[in-house]
Amino acid sequence: MKTEIADASKIFAAAELLRRGEPVVFPTETVYGLGAPVFLAQAVAKIFSIKGRPSDNPLIAHVSSVEEALTLSDDVPPSFFLLANRFWPGPLALVLKRRSSVPEIVSAGQPTIAIRMPSHPIALELIRAVGSPLAAPSANLSGRPSPTCAQDAAEDLDGKVALILDGGACSIGVESTVLSLAGSEPILLRPGQITREELEEVLKRKISLPSSDLRAPLLSPGMKYRHYAPKARLRLVYNRSELQGSYVFSRNPMKGETLLSKQTLFAEFRRADRKGEPLIEIYCDPMIEKDAALMNRLLKASASPGEYFV
Ligand code: TXA
Ligand code: MG
Repeated sequence: MKTEIADASKIFAAAELLRRGEPVVFPTETVYGLGAPVFLAQAVAKIFSIKGRPSDNPLIAHVSSVEEALTLSDDVPPSFFLLANRFWPGPLALVLKRRSSVPEIVSAGQPTIAIRMPSHPIALELIRAVGSPLAAPSANLSGRPSPTCAQDAAEDLDGKVALILDGGACSIGVESTVLSLAGSEPILLRPGQITREELEEVLKRKISLPSSDLRAPLLSPGMKYRHYAPKARLRLVYNRSELQGSYVFSRNPMKGETLLSKQTLFAEFRRADRKGEPLIEIYCDPMIEKDAALMNRLLKASASPGEYFV
């Protein structure tokens, strides 16, 4: 397919397609995104159908500046500016109340909107060239591992999108941290490279996790789906002696094992699938267990289909 090295002329071509309402795949520092201009509701609708994404799962709007974020929300608490100053551009999505001028489909009907300014130069250049924020989920088919290189995006979306911009491998490899600032207290909706502790240090207050009470309103619809899953059965093992199979990932690999890291996890899942591995085992040592972003992805990927996950 048409994965294209993201030089200036291809970024220009991508911006043209986007302005005409054609979704385009582009690199970010976390994972590849499938973008459409936030204010073109029809183009945003195409994202949902291309991915097979449930219609109740909202998208993140990608901006190229703090000013641009203010076109999406007019109810912005001081904590937003503190965090944006410290962590933008970077892997942090902040959920604010949504302006009524922003099409509802971006937020899947929620009164809020998640916004992030990516640090990847190609992503920033593209948003600036389009002249509008881009709504962009990860560029995978819904439920599959997020793509961390252009070829992995092509594996899922070849023939379904007009252009895939190739900016090489993503440096972080897992999706952004998502923090809600839309309620009376900040809530960590998705752990990522920027940790809860780092956010607490800037805000000088504790950050809560979403309620695990199933009767409580669901704050982040994306959290209820099985995610990031390889086709292989994924088994998390907390004791080396309980390893059974031959396809093992660990932080300090022994002979025959593969290195476990956030940066390569999703690519490794896809590689295992291409090889037809039936079983992947992950040795979760105590250090891995302390890595909230990694454990979150591992737990979600190993959940049984249909398992409700908060
Ligand atoms: O790193 C990332 O964030 C990547 C790159 C492309 O930027 N994007 C990404 O998007 O991971 P996606 O759609 O795969 O995940 C977005 C997550 C979902 O769990 C969704 O439910 C949550 O953010 N989310 C989006 N808007 C929200 C909102 N208004 N309120 C609560 N959660 C929201
Ligand atoms: Mg995703």
